[in-house]
Amino acid sequence: MYKITVIPGDGIGKEVMKPTLEILETTNISFDFINKEAGKDCYDKNKTNLPIDTIESCKNSDATLFGAVTSIPEQKSAIVTLRKELDLYINQRPIKSYSNPNINFTIIRENSEGLYSHLEEGNDSEVIALRKITNKGCERIINYAFNYAKKTNRKKVTAVHKANVLPITDGIFKNKFYEIAKNNKNILSDDYYIDATAMYLITNPEKFDVIVTTNLFGDILSDEGGGLLGTLGLIPSANIGDKTGLFEPVHGSAPDIAGLNKANPIAMILSSCLMLEYINKQTEADKIYEAVNKVIKENKIKTPDLGGNNNTTEITNEIMHNL
Ligand code: NAI
Ligand code: MG
Repeated sequence: MYKITVIPGDGIGKEVMKPTLEILETTNISFDFINKEAGKDCYDKNKTNLPIDTIESCKNSDATLFGAVTSIPEQKSAIVTLRKELDLYINQRPIKSYSNPNINFTIIRENSEGLYSHLEEGNDSEVIALRKITNKGCERIINYAFNYAKKTNRKKVTAVHKANVLPITDGIFKNKFYEIAKNNKNILSDDYYIDATAMYLITNPEKFDVIVTTNLFGDILSDEGGGLLGTLGLIPSANIGDKTGLFEPVHGSAPDIAGLNKANPIAMILSSCLMLEYINKQTEADKIYEAVNKVIKENKIKTPDLGGNNNTTEITNEIMHNL
């Protein structure tokens, strides 16, 4: 029995979680789904966007499924806090196009330090945000990227940084990268600046196989990945640490379409496949991948973000039908 904390969150987070659980129920894996709250609706009710009880449940589960939450200016980000509390230092985001074979790369984003350390200070005239980079943080994320490349038969790992203007923080990152690359001679390695990468992803996406980068750069590049695919509705992500994992779509709560049954559930469904891979249920994950691929390839049942008129329920039913 796998203990899974389920945090639907706000807006379309709730709408994409429901079909995902229905799909997981079709596998013969036995799950104990534990429903927990986080986000804006939770804040309105409990005056906190992340109850301790939710954090504890995630800590004591094999994995967590997270929909999406609406940010509240006066509260620390629920998802950033969860990543920190659970020490989920790896954020893995596969970007794969179904129509352009040149777009097939995975972003491995450092998830626990960088500019997301909540270290901002200053006064009315001058403010500073601190960018924290550690040797340990670089080492574990870069090692993960090379191991991921080996495990998934990828050929190359690219480090993305801005070591020309951040020679100390990104200097550590770049040096560590080439030190670890030396121990992984069967995998190619190279590096690009973040700004050039942003351009090459559009002009030459085939250059990229596995990208490893720091927190903010990884956040920005993964939304660019959404742009390359035309929608965030197709991009899943895995947050992984040494003890547990949290799986969530890259998109947010999408208030512009919330409550309309228009959300594309595929990003959340694929996130649950990453969870299945994490708990070593590759065969079950592959069945769901195949069912989703078929819907996208057939190009008949499409939510509005994919250029169609179908709703969340219809695309879910089609995936279920394929299963
Ligand atoms: P968003 O990702 O919610 O939406 C961006 C655009 O993509 C919108 O036009 C939306 O309709 C569309 N979109 C996103 N997911 C879609 C899906 N599954 N199907 C179809 N269309 C989809 O980002 P936005 O609007 O910047 O943020 C909305 C709220 O979500 C904010 O409060 C933000 O802070 C929060 N957020 C939360 C995240 C999380 O919980 N991990 C991640 C990103 C944003
Ligand atoms: Mg983001």
